[in-house]
Amino acid sequence: MQKRPIGTSELQVAPLVFGGNVFGWTADERTSFSILDAFVDHGLNFIDTADVYSAWIDGHKGGESESIIGKWFKESGKRDKIVLATKVGMLSTRAGLSAANIAAAVDDSLRRLKTDYIDVYFSHLDDDKTPFEETLGAYQKLVKAGKVRVIGASNYNGERLEAALKVSSDTGLPAYQILQPEYNLYDREGYETDLEPVAQAHKVAVVTYFSLASGFLSGKYRSKDDTSNAARGSRVEKYLNDRGLRIVDALVDVAKRNDTTPATVALAWVIARPSVTAPIASATSVAQLESLAAATRLNLSAEDIAALDEASAPAK
Ligand SMILES: NC(=O)c1ccc[n+]([C@@H]2O[C@H](COP(=O)([O-])OP(=O)(O)OC[C@H]3O[C@@H](n4cnc5c(N)ncnc54)[C@H](OP(=O)(O)O)[C@@H]3O)[C@@H](O)[C@H]2O)c1
Repeated sequence: MQKRPIGTSELQVAPLVFGGNVFGWTADERTSFSILDAFVDHGLNFIDTADVYSAWIDGHKGGESESIIGKWFKESGKRDKIVLATKVGMLSTRAGLSAANIAAAVDDSLRRLKTDYIDVYFSHLDDDKTPFEETLGAYQKLVKAGKVRVIGASNYNGERLEAALKVSSDTGLPAYQILQPEYNLYDREGYETDLEPVAQAHKVAVVTYFSLASGFLSGKYRSKDDTSNAARGSRVEKYLNDRGLRIVDALVDVAKRNDTTPATVALAWVIARPSVTAPIASATSVAQLESLAAATRLNLSAEDIAALDEASAPAK
């Protein structure tokens, strides 16, 4: 499989990232291990997690996803087959991007992940109370210590990303090489108008989150009834409107033409966007993982992409 670079770094990744927020949440340990093994068997190599996953569940405190990945590394011996991303800044007990917080959080993550290095360390959320110099200086120490290889930014706006990149180029501190914004067929505008031009101008890699709109783009939610017993039901209700259903109809049509599933088409559409390095998506079973992996082999025609673009045009 053709790999893609992360910015100007030496890291090369397959064009589909596995989203690790399901590990210990909607995928138990055994299922998580099977998904991870199948993921590697498909020739895929990039996994995304965060220290805060899955603190939103009653009884969880964060670190559950990292701990499952760490156990899998230890039992499978597959650490060297993976480009591993985790994040700092959103766990309530390790909030923000101060130097002291980053130094403490990275050691917590490394311990849970049972590894001595993180390939990609993301700032999970912009922190305008901490100067960029302090945050980037903290990352520089981690890079020098061999604990982190590349740094990335998630949930920044274009102006703040540009400002952070300028500090790096002015000072020689490490620069964000990869951006993680929300982006999918439904949620297009924020990325396309604000962040994409900055990422392209600075050759920053882009991995998109909620690439399946929390499962909505699989086509399995068409009414409020469909959401009632689903773990992600409350997250998808906002998509249940005319525009959302028009997008799902277009995905179903394109999927039929290509003998595949709507989820595969939704991810292939993201992969086809030149500024995007890879979509991040999660799965709660090996069967769902097949639909994610299939997106790396599906080349949508210009006609398919035009139909999806038309269906997802902003509501007038
Ligand atoms: N940086 C950030 O702030 C941020 C925020 C959110 C997410 N993320 C990252 O992005 C990743 C992806 O986000 P996400 O997992 O929340 O959303 P997503 O990828 O948009 O949706 C994935 C969910 O859709 C369902 N699904 C997947 N394949 C399917 C198929 N073939 N048929 C039917 N349903 C299918 C599964 O849930 P069910 O089986 O439960 O329906 C799966 O967990 C996360 O794991 C995380 O790594 C980052």
